[in-house]
Amino acid sequence: MISLYFLCPPSNAHHASLIAIFHEFVVFYCLSTVLVCWLVPGGSAWGSLKGKRNSIPGPRGLPILGSLLEMGGLAHRRLAQLAQTHGALSLMSLSLGNTRVVIASKPDTAHDILCSSSFANRPLKQSAQQLLFGRAIGFAPQGDYWRGLRRIAANHLFAPKRIAAHGASRQLETAQVLASIAKESSLTPGGAVHIRSHLQRASLNNIMSSVFGRRYNFEDTDCAEALQLKEMVREGFELLGAFNWADHLPALEAIDPQNIHQRCAKLVPRVTAFVQNIIDDHRERAAVNRSPGSDVSDFVDVLLSLQGGEKLSDADAVAVLWEMIFRGTDTTAILTEWIMAELVLHPEIQAKVHAELDTVVGKEKAVCDTDIARLPYLQAVVKETLRTHPPGPLLSWARLSTEDVQIAGHLIPKGTTAMVNMWAITHDPALWPNPEEFCPERFVASEAGGADIDVRGNDLRLAPFGAGRRVCPGRALGMATVQLWLAQLLHKFEWVASTDHPVDLSEVLKLSCEMVHPLHAIPLPRTSLVNVI
Ligand code: HEM
Repeated sequence: MISLYFLCPPSNAHHASLIAIFHEFVVFYCLSTVLVCWLVPGGSAWGSLKGKRNSIPGPRGLPILGSLLEMGGLAHRRLAQLAQTHGALSLMSLSLGNTRVVIASKPDTAHDILCSSSFANRPLKQSAQQLLFGRAIGFAPQGDYWRGLRRIAANHLFAPKRIAAHGASRQLETAQVLASIAKESSLTPGGAVHIRSHLQRASLNNIMSSVFGRRYNFEDTDCAEALQLKEMVREGFELLGAFNWADHLPALEAIDPQNIHQRCAKLVPRVTAFVQNIIDDHRERAAVNRSPGSDVSDFVDVLLSLQGGEKLSDADAVAVLWEMIFRGTDTTAILTEWIMAELVLHPEIQAKVHAELDTVVGKEKAVCDTDIARLPYLQAVVKETLRTHPPGPLLSWARLSTEDVQIAGHLIPKGTTAMVNMWAITHDPALWPNPEEFCPERFVASEAGGADIDVRGNDLRLAPFGAGRRVCPGRALGMATVQLWLAQLLHKFEWVASTDHPVDLSEVLKLSCEMVHPLHAIPLPRTSLVNVI
């Protein structure tokens, strides 16, 4: 048509109608391309692959948008339903705008993804990149830099002797939580306590003390540094947890419809100044008498003491330190709140934990880290909560294929985002009889049908910390913290429901999956131990 146009130049009217035909042709061509791409299983992002046919079942979603609308609200539940509808529990393909995605909802395919070296990278969302996480452990691509960071963290922050060495400060923090809970209860008509705020303060202080060597009094409204930290953490959680449409529809990047880019740009200099200030403080004090090799030195000391090839620039150290706050704070507080909610709803299970505590610890001393190994029923309660309410139902941060790879007989092309729907796995009736029932006995080996399952990533029926080379490095610290909190909260108090605030297990999915309505419950003292450490 174009060559004809140049051979026989048209009259003005003819010219206008040719241009109109040309426009119609372009629109028709674009629409039919979109339609053809969209018709394949998994939708348009899969259809645009040249020379590779997608054999993985999955919803087409809408043209251009794909299944983006499914990601609002409780995405883990909607994705589980979609996988069921499409007969795609092993592996489901879908499109999120331009992003090609596969989702595993069975342990064997989850294992193949999480434990494969072909999926050892993560897609970097815009907010994570802006908030410096590209240079932190969670998002750095696999390679020498990431391996070095993991090694340093494993040796100096998460090693069992480090965790044990910070036991005293965990104990101190918990004693303060118990005291402030008792105080709030005594001042509140009806005695109900808003547990989440106590847990959030304690978890932030736990991480601040083992990573930065600082504790804050968050109740002191005059402490500007504490208020600033709390506010920055809250803003960071919101930005990282938001589902950003611009991550999947590049045309939206310049418009920034959710205002995420702008908010990140404002937060980054504040975070950098805050963390840099702590680093500078440590440098000054290191010159005096701190010994980074000692078990109780904090993680900033350790990073500053690195030499040679391991030495980090200040900018990289800021990224690594800041990430620890994000990964370590909300998960432990959220998990503990879910456990407490289930125990308030199930007084008979709570009574069994009390009985175990009274037998193993007694009422004369406070619980400590070393008691936990002798509390199998309490451990089973934690595992059952990880099963019913995994803090990251989609394991929070996805993986990215770095090459073409075969999973369950299907080709997954390089550059595909891979997710594991851990919630779907932990609610699969083929794996867990009566999955909706809260039953810690499943994890007690001596009970009929019970088994002491390892939740650290070796058994994909319950892997709330992920698995493989990118498995959560903070899982031992997270578990030690949650188990100690739980033991102390139950040793000291019996928790009963408040008629003004009935327990509501509705969920909201942010960076982690939280209770929509924070738990309020009444703590009735069982022992007089509050400040005993
Ligand atoms: C209940 C507590 C926790 C849960 C449920 C949890 C869960 C997870 C999950 C699901 C992942 C992704 C794993 C994968 O892709 O296979 C992860 C990664 C990570 N977690 Fe945790 N986590 C918890 C506590 C912590 C703590 C206390 C810290 C540190 C202070 C931490 C630091 C990290 C880091 C740095 C990564 C990224 C690892 C990498 O990509 O190499 N987590 N976590």
